[in-house]
Amino acid sequence: MPAAPNPYWQAWQGQALIVGPGGIGRALAAELASRAPFLRIRTAGRRGADIALDLADDRSLARLSATAATDLAPLRVVINTAGLLHDGELQPEKRLSQVRRHALERSFAVNAFGPLLLAQAIESALPKDDPVHFASLSARVGSIGDNRLGGWYAYRAAKAAQNQLLRTLAIEWQRRLPRACVTLLHPGTTATPLSAPFGSSVPASALFTPQRAAAHLLDVLEGRTAASSGAFLAWDGLPVPW
Ligand SMILES: NC(=O)c1ccc[n+]([C@@H]2O[C@H](COP(=O)([O-])OP(=O)(O)OC[C@H]3O[C@@H](n4cnc5c(N)ncnc54)[C@H](OP(=O)(O)O)[C@@H]3O)[C@@H](O)[C@H]2O)c1
Repeated sequence: MPAAPNPYWQAWQGQALIVGPGGIGRALAAELASRAPFLRIRTAGRRGADIALDLADDRSLARLSATAATDLAPLRVVINTAGLLHDGELQPEKRLSQVRRHALERSFAVNAFGPLLLAQAIESALPKDDPVHFASLSARVGSIGDNRLGGWYAYRAAKAAQNQLLRTLAIEWQRRLPRACVTLLHPGTTATPLSAPFGSSVPASALFTPQRAAAHLLDVLEGRTAASSGAFLAWDGLPVPW
């Protein structure tokens, strides 16, 4: 059943951008649309999105940047849901011998550099005097302190690098955009193409639908303000160790 408009969002007018609309991204766009009646929800990605965007392509980011101030302002909510764990060429490494420079670079391009360069591209559309959420999906496996299983070198390291890059952004924006709240979010294991090859190791009761994950993530954002910008939080609102 669709969610009712949420009082939290009543004062939020302007636009929202969901980047990388895959399983969780599409569900987030739908959930935000039902909660926030005064936000115009836009999506950006390589396919099936309102705005064409490849986070690993500087020309694509430059096109977004060139039109951001006129096309997206005032941009109140940005949620980056793009992520790369595997594709035809890339597979998470099980051991050192499987590590490849090209795979590390591809993972970092999307999972680490992409979110920061996205922030750079859309910054001109962010209002200075109104609250803004800039959130990006990270992953618990990107936690260095919580790494007990090993493996997945490229994905783990790229998510950890994203966490550091966006924590650093949060500190800069506290000076320059003091009403912006930057949040890194772990969605919980969710049934999407990204997790499909690995989901069988998770009990069905612990595997979220994208809709449930999206609802959790918006619940978490609704509890955040710029005063606590730069946090790494799980779907239940609890901090994840860096
Ligand atoms: N599902 C989980 O269990 C889980 C757990 C922890 C964290 N996460 C994180 O949650 C986020 C969302 O994942 P998901 O589960 O929704 O996976 P998904 O369904 O595979 O969606 C990922 C999206 O990222 C997009 N993407 C990949 N490379 C891109 C690029 N260069 N430029 C723009 N978009 C790009 C993909 O677009 P294309 O269709 O063009 O490839 C796809 O739409 C990811 O950051 C993931 O790491 C997921």
